[in-house]
Formats: sequence, structure tokens, C-alpha cells
Amino acid sequence: MSLTTLSITQPDDWHLHLRDGEALKTTVAHSARVFARAIVMPNLKPPVTTVAQALSYRQRIVSCIPKGSTFDPLMTLYLTEQLNSQEVQRAHEADCVQGIKFYPAGATTNSESGVAELECVYPALEKMAEVGLPLLIHGEVTDTEIDIFDRERVFIETILEPLTQKFPKLKIVLEHITTKDAVDFVSRQGKNIAATITPHHLLLNRNDLLAGGVRPHFYCLPILKRNIHQRALIEAATSGNSKFFLGTDSAPHSIETKETSCGCAGIYSAHAALELYTEVFEAEGALDKLEGFASFFGADFYNLPRNQTQITLSKTPFTVPKEYSFGSGSVIPMRANESISWSAYEATK
Ligand code: DOR
Ligand code: ZN
Repeated sequence: MSLTTLSITQPDDWHLHLRDGEALKTTVAHSARVFARAIVMPNLKPPVTTVAQALSYRQRIVSCIPKGSTFDPLMTLYLTEQLNSQEVQRAHEADCVQGIKFYPAGATTNSESGVAELECVYPALEKMAEVGLPLLIHGEVTDTEIDIFDRERVFIETILEPLTQKFPKLKIVLEHITTKDAVDFVSRQGKNIAATITPHHLLLNRNDLLAGGVRPHFYCLPILKRNIHQRALIEAATSGNSKFFLGTDSAPHSIETKETSCGCAGIYSAHAALELYTEVFEAEGALDKLEGFASFFGADFYNLPRNQTQITLSKTPFTVPKEYSFGSGSVIPMRANESISWSAYEATK
């Protein structure tokens, strides 16, 4: 008999873009509906590069948390070549800063201030390894000669592998992995190296993006790959291996910036992320593995307590609205106007 309701420990989102300003009203409410905590990405304009900026950004997020919710935004700093070890120390001492995000310069949205010369950030990485502050990596090379579908694999071979050898103690999360190469690499490493997996990379492949017409709302980075890679991600997520955990990379952009001749990368999934993951685990016959992936392994990796609250999922379909308001415009969510087969109820204490 198939399950029709499922209660699990409340999950956390270990990779999230909330944006800033008016947009927070929508994005924070959506994430706080289901998730207890989230690691908030720092790629604002300008980026969040200091602990002081992270704390003030956190205040703006907290002011948008709906009444009654105990949602806890965990902050990150944006790794620049100017980040010094004193600031890393301050980040380590600030309870609500949980990691530092490495964007190769030019790899993705608002990554212009990222790292161009890796050697320049060695002192910061050394300090991070010493204090145990995780490095969160956007793992794609930026060399325009490298095919966009190969950029993650080449990053692993030419940058990540040497980096792990130079800093063997550094805690690393390879974010939003998209390839079998990444699954294999992370699986081979020690306990200090883990990966997040998004709902869109589990549910979609490059045919969904390109076959029969270009779908700009499925354009994200790293780009969707072929189905053998999607398959490897599904197997990793549903395997019960604690190196792989939930991180939505929900990344909203307004309709105008997606539906244009040169559109932004990012898929918005925060409105229904847990329900989308649940579809994947159900299709695999692995609903018993959902709680580890969604609620335990990330907290364990970050040395944070597991949540005490529970959330209930019911096999009750609902239709996603065609859009949500987003600042002065709107955002098209994943599954817009379509049905999702599970509904999550708000967390109960
Ligand atoms: O698709 C993406 N969107 N990938 C990223 O790495 C950044 C993100 C964003 O901020 O829009
Ligand atoms: Zn991201």
C-alpha cells in the first residue's frame, strides 16, 4: 500500500536565495512555511562581504518572517580576494554566520566580485580550515572555451581536487551538484566534503529546457544536464548517504528578466520545495529516506542541532499559482499552473 501521509522532522534549506527589499515579503514567507532554517546566499548587489553586512541583511530578512514562525536565517559571506583572516575569525564567532561562499568570478548571477586568482584567497581558506567554517562552492569553471555542459566536471578536476589536497581539513559543500562526476567525487571524499542537491536538478534534465522550445524558466546554473546525470543525482539523494542533503538553490528573478533575449539564471522553487522533493523520493520508492536528506544530514554536517519540530506531508494534490508577486513585479514559480501531488502542512511544535 502506498503512503498517503508522512510526518518528518522539520527540514532545513541549506542553499537559498532570498534577495532583498520588497521581494523578501514573498520569499521569506514561502521558505518559512516549511523550513526551520536556511543558509542564505550572499550574492546581493553589492555582495555581502562582511559580518556587519550579513547581520544587517539578516535583520531585513527577520523583519519579513510571518508572525508565529521561528524561521532562522543562517548567513554567509561572499568570498572576495580582499577577505582577510580577521573577518573569517569574526564570521566564525558570529552564531548566525555559517559559511563563506566561493563564486568563481563571472560564473553566475552577481558573481563579478568573486574569485579570479585562487591563490589570493589561500589565507582566508587556511583560517576557515583552522576554525571549521565551511566553504560553500559554486563549482563551475568560467573559461569561455569550456563547453557549458562540462563546466562542473572541469571545475572538479582542475580546481576542486587540487584545493582539497591543499586544504585537507577544510569543510566544503559542493553546492547544487548536477553531474555523475560530482556525485562520484563527493562520494570518494572524507567526511568534511558534502554536496547539496536541488529539486530542479532532480526533476528536470536538459530536454526539459530545450526540446520542443526554449523554456527560460528552466534556465539555471549550473545548467540542467542530460538524463544520465539526473539519474545519478536521484540515486545519490535517495541513497541515504549523509554526504548529500537538501539545498533548493531557489533563485527568483522577475518575469521580465527571465523572458528576454538574454535571460537570468535561476529557478524559483521555495513555494513548494519540500513537496517537489517528496515527489522524487516517492517515485523512487524511497520515502523512508526523505527525512535524512531533508532534515538530518545538513544539520549534522554544519554541527547544528537537528530540529525538534515535525511537519506533515499529505498526498493531496494542489495547483501552483501562475505567478507570485515579487518586489514591484512577479516571479513564475516552478510548476506554475500545474499540479504537485503532495502538500506540506505547517510545522507543529
Ligand atoms: O541558477 C542560478 N541562480 N544559479 C546560481 O548560481 C545563482 C542563482 C541566482 O542567484 O540567481
Ligand atoms: Zn545558488
